[in-house]
Amino acid sequence: MTEAAAPVLADANVRQMLSPFGLDVEYTRAEGNALHYTDEEGREHRVVDFACGFGSLMLGHNNSEIAERAKEILDAKVPVHTQLAQHSHTNDLARALNEIIARELHTDEPYYALFGNSGAEAVEIAIKHAEFDRLQRARELLDGVEDNIATARDAVSGGGAQVSPEAYDLAGVAGGAGLEDLVAEVRRRNEAAAATPPLFLTIEGSFHGKLASSIQLTYNEMFRLPFKSLSAQARFVPADQPDALAKIVSDERVAVLDLVVEDGLVRVVERDFPVFGAFFLEPIRGEAGIRPLSEEFARTIQQVCAELGCPVVSDEIQCGTGRSGAFFAASHIGLRGDYIILAKSLAGGIAKTGVVLVREGRYRNDFELIHSSTFGKDSFSSLIALKVIEMLEADGGAAYRAAEERGAKLKTMLEAVRADFPDVVKDVRGRGLMLGLEFHDQSEAASEIIREQTQHGYIGFAVAGYLLRNHGIRTFTTASALHTFRFEPSIYLGDEDIAQLETALRAVCGVLRRQDEKGFAVV
Ligand code: F0G
Repeated sequence: MTEAAAPVLADANVRQMLSPFGLDVEYTRAEGNALHYTDEEGREHRVVDFACGFGSLMLGHNNSEIAERAKEILDAKVPVHTQLAQHSHTNDLARALNEIIARELHTDEPYYALFGNSGAEAVEIAIKHAEFDRLQRARELLDGVEDNIATARDAVSGGGAQVSPEAYDLAGVAGGAGLEDLVAEVRRRNEAAAATPPLFLTIEGSFHGKLASSIQLTYNEMFRLPFKSLSAQARFVPADQPDALAKIVSDERVAVLDLVVEDGLVRVVERDFPVFGAFFLEPIRGEAGIRPLSEEFARTIQQVCAELGCPVVSDEIQCGTGRSGAFFAASHIGLRGDYIILAKSLAGGIAKTGVVLVREGRYRNDFELIHSSTFGKDSFSSLIALKVIEMLEADGGAAYRAAEERGAKLKTMLEAVRADFPDVVKDVRGRGLMLGLEFHDQSEAASEIIREQTQHGYIGFAVAGYLLRNHGIRTFTTASALHTFRFEPSIYLGDEDIAQLETALRAVCGVLRRQDEKGFAVV
């Protein structure tokens, strides 16, 4: 069968969608911050990669030091899969991560590590751990109510107490019905409350993965809604709106009834049932359009969650592992998650791993006995992740400084473009090597083609195709903010790469300012 006649059986639909924009290229070589493809005439083109695995390539494509380490590990015949045995490499990795937590997040409390294979899988592990913990908290609460019922019974039968009239009102039982009727009603109500499914909290625009549970925490409706019935739901809190958060919490609060004996009276009191599973947040929201979380809102979330007894999960899958100029992006805003999640760049763009770190005070070690994955915590990916950490931490954190310095240079350029095209560029945001440039909405554009592409949601692909084919630049918009282009290169980004991007962006701004009839035609 000739190549032309061969059916496309993988990603055929995606390929078809990319094709009109010239985005259906096949990259054949990748190194550092560059990708290469060969055109129909056999010419090789170098492309500066600003998408970089959407955050997985902090240390570039095919980093040679990491590749060497990979070869060494394989040549040494290190056992890769040995479930139910000791894993010193995985433990070394957990310890290395704990040292960074202690330094950047200023705590001596250990964080225990649970490993998976990808970002979304690590989020699923966090969801499961949070639910396991929630059910145990619920059990402790309801056991406490049972103990108090026994105490009330003893007090009433011994003649030391009687049911207060308000207790019947609060429980909705006919006055004077007696303790046993009151107890029956308390138990009935509590059983109903205990059946409430867990609810997760997260911020509007968030992205936490696309598996059955993690997708419920991902804001984009196109991705989420078809799978709504598969798992527990989330409420999306608008960023920087403490009042909206307080309202959601009060709307969703579920109370159970408890009995207390005081001054010879059995009273009914309400207690919060643990309905909130966890609050998931990204210290820098990637798919929401590269939006750093404010220090103030981070503090509010931590306070509210502390009151609720609900863990805060810091999803550093995209923004972590050094990209922000520190290992943890949360360190810039004084945020210490109860859980911290890493994936993407942690395995150096060569292996695959994801980890959930849970602080000791919230860790349920029984979870280790009921959760596992064949490929989770394999020695190969653990050793590669250790190598990545060693490289990041070398020379007193030179890689973090590089992320900050390269990022600052890139941001200065983006700001300069914005200053020259304020009518076209709305905003430049982000930190370190996680930057976004937002264009003004073109839904009402004078150019028919630009207007229609915007209205149909294709303008991002049209611009991406133009940048790629005409300027050798690879980038895309973020998933939930379609006017924001992402810039998440590796620390090996060169000055000439930044200059190439500047030329390209100025050309895009020119097309938008002129409302060019041809729009973003690929030449
Ligand atoms: N959390 C965040 C913050 C992410 O950005 C991603 C993925 C995930 C979780 C899921 O990780 O892909 O390894 O399962 N973000 C990619 C993106 C897909 O488009 O930015 P995954």
